[in-house]
Amino acid sequence: MRALVVDDDPEVCSAVEEILLEKGCKADKRFCLADVKRMIRRRHYELVFVGSKLPDGTCLDVLNELNRLSPLTTVVVLITRTELNMVVQAVREKAYEFIAKPIVPDEARIRIESAIERARLIQENEILKKDTPSLLPKRLLGRSKVMRNLIETINIVAPTDVNVMIYGESGTGKELVAQEIHNKSLRSGARFVEVNCAAIPDTLIEAEFFGYEKGAFTGAVSRKIGRFELADGGTLFLDEISETSIAFQAKLLRAIEEKKFERLGSNKTIKSDVRIIATTNQNLRKLVVEGRFREDLYFRLNVFPIHIPPLRARKEDIPLLADYFVALYSSKNSKPVKEISSDALSWMMKYDWPGNVRELENAVERAVIVSVGDKITRKDIVIPRMAETKGAVDIGEILPLREMEKRLILKALEKTRGRRAEAARLLGISVRTLRNKLARYEKEGIYVNRMGEVRREKK
Ligand SMILES: Nc1ncnc2c1ncn2[C@@H]1O[C@H](COP(=O)(O)OP(=O)(O)OP(=O)(O)O)[C@@H](O)[C@H]1O
Ligand SMILES: [Mg+2]
Repeated sequence: MRALVVDDDPEVCSAVEEILLEKGCKADKRFCLADVKRMIRRRHYELVFVGSKLPDGTCLDVLNELNRLSPLTTVVVLITRTELNMVVQAVREKAYEFIAKPIVPDEARIRIESAIERARLIQENEILKKDTPSLLPKRLLGRSKVMRNLIETINIVAPTDVNVMIYGESGTGKELVAQEIHNKSLRSGARFVEVNCAAIPDTLIEAEFFGYEKGAFTGAVSRKIGRFELADGGTLFLDEISETSIAFQAKLLRAIEEKKFERLGSNKTIKSDVRIIATTNQNLRKLVVEGRFREDLYFRLNVFPIHIPPLRARKEDIPLLADYFVALYSSKNSKPVKEISSDALSWMMKYDWPGNVRELENAVERAVIVSVGDKITRKDIVIPRMAETKGAVDIGEILPLREMEKRLILKALEKTRGRRAEAARLLGISVRTLRNKLARYEKEGIYVNRMGEVRREKK
């Protein structure tokens, strides 16, 4: 087999050639398009490596030529690490399409249309998807006394139809408990509809909840069914309920009490019978005292409170959970089923898991992926949070606490690329607090855009 390696950088060519030689494959090297054209006319190459940009053309010219002359040739494009990282990262982060800048309308239109189409399909299917069981059903596990009691409590409360309020730190399994209650309830045949109150901006939450008629406001191009209506007969899961505004809480209360509401832009009253399961990682009672959460709504929702303790308070659950996640992610990644070495496990028992079960799950998933052989060892378990506190935030000089706080907040937003709920979670504050801080920074001329980028303006 013979290969051709083309790049304007001779070092790149040599590096590729060396590896090819290691594998017993001889290579010719060329550095520009004109030479490549000449070479591929002269002889057949099974394999061609080509740099994305050449002095007199691009890899596309080479691909074109090869498609014409020898369509079966395998072509590998060499791109710079920054391009590659970006693209790989974007694909990994589930970017759906790429549009080149500057924008060429004719070209961009097709891609934008297809993105809109996909978003629409997802919007419509989102609810249905919840009903189809995933390949690997999630299970609520626990062997500690508190968790066994909790599972028993769920079995008792699930069929009763009372509203449930779930308290627990981030990652303790609030959503999983809510699902479990729904699945074991008499409403399990109907939908489990989720609303992440922290993720939906104040201005959109009503539309999301109650839906709207076509033309109800600018941008309402067609009728939208709200989540309250979708959940009729089923369960409405209000995640992070403490993040709603007082004004919205009043509307929510009415809908819950009267079991009816109107779509925006319509006078018609719609009936909907939902059971509410809400969550918070805040002390709701305290928010009521501070006047940030309506007391009447609190009593409506807090009919049956469930408290999930943090993982550090029930470390006996760690081995069981770790084994379960190992099995789950081994099968998901088609890796041979692994076991956890005793040093890895004893180390996991020592750590406090501030991100709770989610953090443990992520650590195990990563370990399954990076581990070789059939045992997960201590070095396979990496905790990003630990690395973060040690490295990424460089404290450097000591500044007034308020300034330090500002820097950390901006850093968190940059890191999460503007995802406020996630940034707040990292910082251990509520989204509301984060929002208030940002409003204060804006008064000082510091703006953070939707991507988490910071812009400063002189005041
Ligand atoms: N007891 C458990 N058994 C098995 N898996 C669990 C358990 N608790 C949590 N998990 C898993 O941990 C992850 C986080 O759980 P979940 O999303 O329910 O947490 P949460 O409390 O809603 O977190 P957040 O406040 O950040 O939204 C999920 O993948 C969930 O399946
Ligand atoms: Mg959750």
